[in-house]
Amino acid sequence: MKEINVAVTGGAGQIAYSLLPRLISGETFGEETKVNLRLIEIPQVVDKLEGTIMELIDCGFKQTGELVATSDIREGVKDADWVLLVGSIPRGIVIDGKKIEERSDLLKINGGIFTAQGSAIGELAKSDAKILVVGNPANTNALIGKNQANNPSQKWFAMTALDANRAKAQLAAKAGVEISSVTNMAIWGNHSPTMYPDPYNAKIDGVSAVEVINDTNWIENDYLPLVQQRGKAVIDARGASSAASAANAAIDTVKAVESPTASGDCFSAAIASDGSYGVPEGLIFGYPLRTTENGEVEIIQGIEINDFAQAKIDTTTEELLSEKEAVKGLLG
Ligand SMILES: NC(=O)c1ccc[n+]([C@@H]2O[C@H](COP(=O)([O-])OP(=O)(O)OC[C@H]3O[C@@H](n4cnc5c(N)ncnc54)[C@H](O)[C@@H]3O)[C@@H](O)[C@H]2O)c1
Repeated sequence: MKEINVAVTGGAGQIAYSLLPRLISGETFGEETKVNLRLIEIPQVVDKLEGTIMELIDCGFKQTGELVATSDIREGVKDADWVLLVGSIPRGIVIDGKKIEERSDLLKINGGIFTAQGSAIGELAKSDAKILVVGNPANTNALIGKNQANNPSQKWFAMTALDANRAKAQLAAKAGVEISSVTNMAIWGNHSPTMYPDPYNAKIDGVSAVEVINDTNWIENDYLPLVQQRGKAVIDARGASSAASAANAAIDTVKAVESPTASGDCFSAAIASDGSYGVPEGLIFGYPLRTTENGEVEIIQGIEINDFAQAKIDTTTEELLSEKEAVKGLLG
């Protein structure tokens, strides 16, 4: 059996609880791949991972390799093929007597985590390692990590697949079709309420979703906020942020990067902009992507951007630029 090394931060968190069994079951990396898993947690929590490891052993998957728990990021990411950066500090946590509510404070605190993680990955993970940032603010955390890693052959992604799955589900429900009928879903920009889940280029059975649904008022005034605010709606209803669906989206992203994209379709993730669609170079920006037959991930070119879409893309770009400005001291 082939073997790969996968490192996951936030190993004791709620997303990880749904994610980890699926990483070592053959579902994500294939039936014939043994997965060595390194679970990384902060020192206060790392002991809990022993229980997680017991459960992973008790799943009894033949693809399960070595299971390691550590609070040392350098040990965790050494020789990693994939690094899933899930761990981060949530909004609302109290640090030194101060409740962290402001996005700018959150950016700085989590940014601090991603500088150390980024440099360890750049130095110690494999030269062709792929890194998926799930922990929020995901795009800007990835910007910091990638910058610190300073290892151009490694590929950094921030997760927008959950937004894409949410957007497909809403369009399918409105059109009264199976979700598998919805393709070409691009999430442009930031994983935040400014994201643009593109309904014009999304297709339902091969036709623009906007044409099929034929209700511009619903598209612009109901669908967009539904998708953009879905994370908050889940928190309000469940008292905790999306976990099973976030883990599922992380699995979807790994699979989308690891296998060629179906002809004519795309997948959604944020990657470093190369200037495509006028987005400043280097920003970690949500784009429609394709994995080629030889495993390269490309930004799909030539997608039509109408005035409505351009205004949305401008707004999310502005937000990412202001996040970049807020963490400029962490960009090395
Ligand atoms: N991109 C997306 O679509 C998406 C969707 C849902 C949630 N999220 C984000 O994912 C993150 C994790 O969510 P969760 O529900 O699992 O949170 P959680 O609070 O249950 O778990 C987070 C875990 O990360 C750990 N952690 C914190 N700092 C760490 C560090 N420096 N190294 C290693 N581990 C560390 C914590 O100890 C905790 O166990 C949050 O930031 C959340 O906002 C992103």
